[in-house]
Amino acid sequence: MTKGWQKSDWRAKPRVQMPDYMDSAALNAVEAQLAKYPPLVFAGEARRLKKQLALASEGKAFLLQGGDCAESFAEFSADNIRDTFRVMLQMAIVLTYGAKVPVIKVGRMAGQFAKPRSAPTEVIGGVEYPSYRGDIINGFEATPEARQPDPQRMLQAYTQAAASLNLLRAFSTGGFADIHRVHSWTLGFAEHDKADRYRELSNRISDALDFMTAAGVNAETAHMLTTVDFYTSHEALLLEYEEALCRVDSISGQNVAGSGHMIWIGDRTRQPDGAHVEFCRGVLNPIGLKCGPTTTAEDLKVLMAKLNPQNEAGRLTLIARFGAGKVAEHLPRLVKAVKDEGANVVWSCDPMHGNTIKSPSGYKTRPFNAVLSEVREFFAVHKSEGTIPGGVHFEMTGKDVTECTGGLRAVTDEDLSDRYHTACDPRLNASQSLELAFLVAEELLAFREVGHRVAL
Ligand code: PEP
Ligand code: CO
Repeated sequence: MTKGWQKSDWRAKPRVQMPDYMDSAALNAVEAQLAKYPPLVFAGEARRLKKQLALASEGKAFLLQGGDCAESFAEFSADNIRDTFRVMLQMAIVLTYGAKVPVIKVGRMAGQFAKPRSAPTEVIGGVEYPSYRGDIINGFEATPEARQPDPQRMLQAYTQAAASLNLLRAFSTGGFADIHRVHSWTLGFAEHDKADRYRELSNRISDALDFMTAAGVNAETAHMLTTVDFYTSHEALLLEYEEALCRVDSISGQNVAGSGHMIWIGDRTRQPDGAHVEFCRGVLNPIGLKCGPTTTAEDLKVLMAKLNPQNEAGRLTLIARFGAGKVAEHLPRLVKAVKDEGANVVWSCDPMHGNTIKSPSGYKTRPFNAVLSEVREFFAVHKSEGTIPGGVHFEMTGKDVTECTGGLRAVTDEDLSDRYHTACDPRLNASQSLELAFLVAEELLAFREVGHRVAL
C-alpha cells in the first residue's frame, strides 16, 4: 500500500504525548518480546471491517463505536467486558430496528490503554506529579514511583487485551449474541421508561423471529442471527507498542497493525508531519482521525492525502468532537474540505470530548444534555450539507456508574461521588447509553426518511 514505508519510520518524526523511558535496555527487551508474540487481530478481519465502513460512508450501514475512556488493569474482569458488550448489543438493536440500518459494532476495548494529557504534570494534594498516562505507561497512584513510565506495563496490557479479545470473540459467536436472547439483554436497567421501550422493541423482534422460524429460518440455517461481528479499536498513541505488534500480512504483503482492528489518531497527536500520522499511514487497518475545533480545512486536506492517498472507501473515519453549541461553527468547513477533495470518508460524531466540564463538586463530568445536543447538531449539519452521518463514538460502560450528570434516571452533581470509577474521562452509564441510542435512532430514521435515503 505505502511503498517504502517501514514500521519504525515514525521514530525519525517529532513525537508528542509519548513517555520518555529512562531504561532503554528494558524498553528494547519488552519491544523484542512483544514482536515475537502473536498479533491480536488479523489482516482479513481489518479488511472486512474496512468493507463494512465503506458501506457506512454511503449510508448503507452505521458505525457504533464505544467503550472506556481508558481501560485499566484494576477494572479488568469478565463482568465488565460482558456488561459493555451487552450494552453495545442493546444499542445496536435499537439502531438496527429503529433506523433500519445494519450497525457496525466497534469497542473501545482490548487495547484502549494509553492517554494523551493536557499537561505533563498534575498537582494532587498540593504535590506535583508526572501526569497519569494510562495503565500501559504508568500507574494511577499518586506516588513518584507509580508515575514513572515502566515498559513492563506493555506486556501486561498485551495480556489483558488478548484475554479481553478472547472473551469478546466467545461472546460474539458462542451464543451470547444470539438475537433470540434479545430479552435477556434487558438486565441492568430495570424500571424506567427507556427499559419499557427496549422491552417493547424486544417483543416485536421476538415476534419477527417466531415468524421466521415458522417460515423455516432458524438458528441452524441463519448463522447471521446467532452471531455478531464485533471489532476492537483504540487510540494508537504508544507507538513502541504499535510498532512491536505491526505485522506483514502474508496474503497481500501489506503491513497491518496487529494491536486492534481499527486504530485512531487523537486530537492532540494529529500533526501532519508527526510520528502518529507517520505510523498510521503505513498500515492497512481502518483509521480514525479525531477532528476538533482547531482542525483547519487545510490540515484536513493534507491529512486525508497522507492517510488515504488511494481514496479507498472505509479507510478513513473522521470523528468530529467539537462540543455542544460549536458544531455548526466548525463542522461545515471540514465537510466542505471533504467535498472539495471528493474524499471518501465516514463521518462519525464523538459528543464526549468537547463536553467535559468540572462540576461544582470538583469532579470531571459531562452533562448528558450537552451530549445529546452535540449529536443533534451533527445530524443537522449533515442534513443541510447533504452529506451522510455515518456513525457515533461514545465513552460508555455497562455498569451503573455516576460519572456523567443527567439522563432519565437523573444523576445529579451530588451523586457523582457515589460510583465514579473511571480511570480517565467520565463515561455514560448503561441507562444513559441506551437513552442516547434511542435518540440516535430517531435522528437517523428522520434523516433517512427525508430523502437522503440512499438506494439500498
Ligand atoms: C479519547 O478519545 O479518549 C480522546 C482523548 O479523545 P480526543 O483525542 O478527541 O481528545
Ligand atoms: Co476520553
